[in-house]
Amino acid sequence: MKTKYPPVYYGDYLGLDKLLSCQRPKSEEYEGKIAHDEMLFIIVHQAYELWFRQILHELSSVQTIFGQEYVNEKMVGICVARLRRVTEIQKLLVDQLHIIETMTPLDFLDFRDFLLPASGFQSYQFRQIENKLGLEPGDRKLFENSSYAARLSKEHRNLISEDENQPSMLQLVNGWLERTPFIEFNGFNFWQSYRASVDTMLENDLDIIKTNPNLLPEERERELTQFKSTREHFEAIFGKSKHDELVKKGLRKLSHKATQAALLINLYRDEPILHLPFGLLTVLIDIDELMTTWRSRHALMVQRMIGTKIGTGGSSGHHYLKVTASSHKVFEDLTNISTFLIPRKNLPELPEDFIKSLGFYHTRKK
Ligand code: HEM
Repeated sequence: MKTKYPPVYYGDYLGLDKLLSCQRPKSEEYEGKIAHDEMLFIIVHQAYELWFRQILHELSSVQTIFGQEYVNEKMVGICVARLRRVTEIQKLLVDQLHIIETMTPLDFLDFRDFLLPASGFQSYQFRQIENKLGLEPGDRKLFENSSYAARLSKEHRNLISEDENQPSMLQLVNGWLERTPFIEFNGFNFWQSYRASVDTMLENDLDIIKTNPNLLPEERERELTQFKSTREHFEAIFGKSKHDELVKKGLRKLSHKATQAALLINLYRDEPILHLPFGLLTVLIDIDELMTTWRSRHALMVQRMIGTKIGTGGSSGHHYLKVTASSHKVFEDLTNISTFLIPRKNLPELPEDFIKSLGFYHTRKK
C-alpha cells in the first residue's frame, strides 16, 4: 500500500533496539554469570513502568479537561472512558504479581544484594500517579521520618513536586461537584424531604435497638454507641460546620457542598442525565480500590518473598506496605457515600424543570 508518508519499519517505530538493550542484570555484570530470575525481575518492573506511563498519559488528559472553564457532557464521557482504561490497566498490574511470584525467595536471594539500596519505593512514576490522583504529602506514612521524596534523585523530586503543585483529580472533581446545581434549585426542597426520611429511618433503628428482647445489656450498649456514630455521620451531611470540622481534622477530603452533590448523584443515578456523573464517581472509586488491591497484593507478595526482613530501600518492608495499603486512599469520601443512601421508595421526586436543567450546569460560569 502506498501513502504520502515515508515507510515505517516495525522495530524502528517501537524503538526495539533501545528497548531490548535495557535488560542488564547486575549478577552478570558483577559475577560474570546471570542469576536466572534477575531477567524476569527486570522485565516485570519495566513492564510496570510502561503501564504507569500510559496511566499518567490518561490522567493528565483528564486533568486538562477538568481544569477547563467549561466541562461539557461529551467531555465527561471521554474522561470516564479514559479512566475506565486506567482501571483495566490496574487489573493487569494486580495480575502481573502472579508472574513475579513464580520466582522463589531463594531465587531472589541469588541477586538481591546487588540491588541495594534501589527499591520500587523510588518509582517516580508511581508517585506521580499518587499525586495526580490527590494523595497529599500530609496523608502519607512517613518513611524513616522523612518525605517519600527523600530517596529520589533531584531530577525526579522536581518532577513529582510539579504534580504536587497541580490541581489533583480529587480537587478538580471536588470543584466540578460543587458547581452542579443540585443543592439549591428554585425552591426544590430535597434536603428537607431527605432529612425527614433519614429522621424516620434513624428513629426506627433506635426503636429496634431499645426494644429488641434478644439483646444482652452490653450488646444493647454497643449497638447504641454504634447508632450514635451513625447519627453523627448524618449530622455532618446536614450541617456544614460539622463537616468542615471533619475536613480540618483530615477525616474528610471532599467539601460539604461536593459531598452533598455526590450524594444526590448517587441517589438519583437512575435519571438518564445522571448516568455519566454517576459513572465518573464510580470509576474514581474503582481506581482507588484497585490501588488498594495492588498495594495489599504487593505487601503479601513481599512478605512471601522476604518474610520480615527490611526492604532493599530500608523500610520495615511488609509492615510499611501494609500501613500504606490501609491508609493511602484518595476517594474514600465517595466510597463512604453509601452510608447516606436511603431506599428509592423514600426519595423525594425531582421536579421536571430541575431534571431538564441538569445538563447545562457543569460549568464554572454561574
Ligand atoms: C521480589 C519482588 C519485590 C519485592 C521483594 C519488593 C519489596 C518492596 C519493599 C520491601 C518495599 C518497601 C520499600 C523498601 O523498603 O524497599 C517496596 C515498595 C514498593 N515496591 Fe516493591 N517489591 C517487589 C516487586 C515490585 C514490583 C514488581 C513493583 C512494580 C513496579 C514494585 C513497586 C513498588 C512500589 C511502587 C513501592 C512503593 C510503595 C509505597 O511506598 O506505598 N515492587 N517493595
